[in-house]
Amino acid sequence: MIKNLKSLKNLEDKIVLTRVDFNVPFNDKGEITDITRIKGALPTIEYLREAKAKIILFSHLGRITSEEDKKTKSLKPVAKKLAEITGYKIIFVPKNRGELVEKAIRILKPGEILMLENTRFQDFVDGKQVNYESKNNDELATYWSKLGDVFVNDAFGTAHRSHASNVGIASKMENKAIGLLMEKEINFLDKAVKTPESPFVALVGGAKVSDKIDVIKSLLEKADKVIIGGGMAYTFHKAQGLSIGNSLVEEDKVELAKALLSTYKDKLIVAVDSAYTTEFADNVPEYGDEVPEGNMGLDIGPKSIELIKNELENAKTILWNGPFGVTEFSNFSKGTNEIAMTIAEKDDVISIVGGGDSVAAVVSMGLAKEFSHVATGGGASLEYIEGKVLPGIKIFETTEEKN
Ligand code: 3PG
Repeated sequence: MIKNLKSLKNLEDKIVLTRVDFNVPFNDKGEITDITRIKGALPTIEYLREAKAKIILFSHLGRITSEEDKKTKSLKPVAKKLAEITGYKIIFVPKNRGELVEKAIRILKPGEILMLENTRFQDFVDGKQVNYESKNNDELATYWSKLGDVFVNDAFGTAHRSHASNVGIASKMENKAIGLLMEKEINFLDKAVKTPESPFVALVGGAKVSDKIDVIKSLLEKADKVIIGGGMAYTFHKAQGLSIGNSLVEEDKVELAKALLSTYKDKLIVAVDSAYTTEFADNVPEYGDEVPEGNMGLDIGPKSIELIKNELENAKTILWNGPFGVTEFSNFSKGTNEIAMTIAEKDDVISIVGGGDSVAAVVSMGLAKEFSHVATGGGASLEYIEGKVLPGIKIFETTEEKN
């Protein structure tokens, strides 16, 4: 059993170290382009506020390999965004250890929220790549754990990492639990991978077979149908002997694609046509079952869209990860957008979308509310679906029967 937030008693006046995943995308103007992860953490923050805890937020942002990175990857704009969304005062401390941090915590009042600077600043210290955070340095984990009374890990997106600010702190603290977002993510993924209601249809897109091969294999064991689209479909098309022109292909995965197509012939469905053009550009597409020489497939075509709609018709559980075309090109977003709309229109179905570009499509179309769950962790949810043990969750397992 995993200890959850509601099992923690007497949080009033307690300093609650709260690990969230505010690793959000920025554009080149330094603006946050997707606030899904920030919104995802709000129920836990709200719960702790109502319980009159003193809330200390920890998060990483990007990867830190130089002093320069520290300038562009500060959490300050995230603290500002959190204040904007909630209307609460967010006290931002531009450090994550030392006197400034300790003093700010000492004067924090119940219900107040303090955010520390990017935990990965501890990966690059005094001009050296030391990876204290990313390698779960014991001294750092001990230091952080001593800043508070309770630890809550709500960073599902980081659950596949064993870092000082999640597993490290948790390993040092008795009084700990997973947060409400983490609990929700686990519950929804379990519904899909452990107890899916049939028919269970999984859609897997994205550029590379190699990135998702384990998840495809795992879904082929669990789902009734697995539909492949996006760049990775061309490796399967090549395995089917179709012409793919200059489309993306992983030559070393063609034999594997052949084997999967033959073992799972009734289950594995690959997009049947493409929208293609002569170069990687937002040109007006042509459509066909095969991609002629001198062209590259950048989206699924109308026949595939129809086929997918039919397959989704009676589905009771739908899991979707990865775009079915190049979503930054409006001419090649149709497949992904149609999938998003088709799923969004369905009632009485468990629908889960995960993965950066597919989530971004759903969010930008204003359809997030129509999905049962929008996963906040790409890598973490893939590993969870593969059946891997995620260290950021496992550390909260308890032998207690009830909590
Ligand atoms: C993510 O964006 O997948 C998580 O925040 C983890 O980030 P990382 O891949 O840099 O560890």
